[in-house]
Amino acid sequence: MVSRVFLFKFGIIAAAIGTFVTLSWAMVDTTIHATSDHEFCSSCHSHKPIGSSYREDLHGGNNSVGWRASCSDCHIPQDNALHYLWVKGVHGVVDPTMEILKDPYDIDWHANRERREHYVYDSGCLSCHKYLEQTSEENAKSFRPHRKYFSGSEKELSCVGCHEHVGHANLGIHLQEQGWEKKNEK
Ligand code: HEC
Ligand code: HEC
Ligand code: HEC
Ligand code: HEC
Repeated sequence: MVSRVFLFKFGIIAAAIGTFVTLSWAMVDTTIHATSDHEFCSSCHSHKPIGSSYREDLHGGNNSVGWRASCSDCHIPQDNALHYLWVKGVHGVVDPTMEILKDPYDIDWHANRERREHYVYDSGCLSCHKYLEQTSEENAKSFRPHRKYFSGSEKELSCVGCHEHVGHANLGIHLQEQGWEKKNEK
């Protein structure tokens, strides 16, 4: 038999953990909104080539009409609230921990790019490119690939599977120039 005292203690511990998790998430959320997300994310990523390649890209503000996609637009999924909170929490809690534990020069950012489909979300792209399916129908260049994507016949297709470098112009060159040599380069 499970004793009442045990259940009572268990209840208190569970409530404490619940409160802790909620508060941490709330703090992450407040921090990201208080600083703009660009400032918050760039507090770590700007000294890296990530920031400079972003500013050189159309999506990072390098366009003549004055718009900019924020980091979270692409790097935090927009499909449902739980997924959104989870990924936001990861960048708000796990990233800062890694920042303390790891030397950024030990991270192989070149290799990391090959995992782009794991940290860039189609739902983010589609929150702006809402009518892409319709507009592509009249576009000679994108008609075929986009029809393939939207028909869902090839499940593994993703936006950045084809548009690999969107959001960060010439990232490879920026990495190289700022001291991240390609490892295992022949
Ligand atoms: C338009 C979408 C988009 C926006 C906006 C965007 N990114 Fe990215 N991000 C990407 C894509 C796509 C890649 C993979 C790029 C590549 O491999 O060339 C990437 C890669 C990254 C990586 C991994 C790079 C590596 O070498 O491992 C980090 C970190 C990152 N982005 C952070 C940010 C931050 C911080 C911001 C805001 C200042 C931002 N991104 C804005 C789409 C975006
Ligand atoms: C306190 C520093 C810090 C902040 C703030 C920060 N990051 Fe990071 N980020 C890192 C570090 C360090 C890594 C590498 C983690 C690793 O290799 O395990 C990383 C990795 C990444 C990656 C690559 C993910 C992967 O799976 O390899 C992306 C994308 C990214 N961050 C986006 C963001 C976004 C978007 C924000 C803002 C919402 C943000 N980061 C805020 C330090 C930070
Ligand atoms: C904040 C809104 C926003 C987000 C998020 C966004 N885009 Fe865009 N994107 C735009 C706008 C605006 C243009 C310029 C359209 C034009 O020139 O008429 C554009 C242009 C493009 C272009 C054509 C120009 C180029 O750079 O080659 C591609 C491809 C593209 N986006 C892909 C993506 C992908 C893939 C994602 C997700 C990783 C994404 N976009 C996320 C708003 C956005
Ligand atoms: C199978 C490959 C493929 C996939 C998947 C794909 N695209 Fe494209 N996309 C292309 C090609 C090819 C073009 C035309 C040439 C170019 O502009 O790069 C294009 C063009 C575009 C353009 C420019 C406007 C246009 O219609 O020509 C935008 C914006 C765009 N894609 C966004 C996206 C977004 C957002 C996704 C995910 C929802 C996506 N694409 C998925 C291959 C693809």
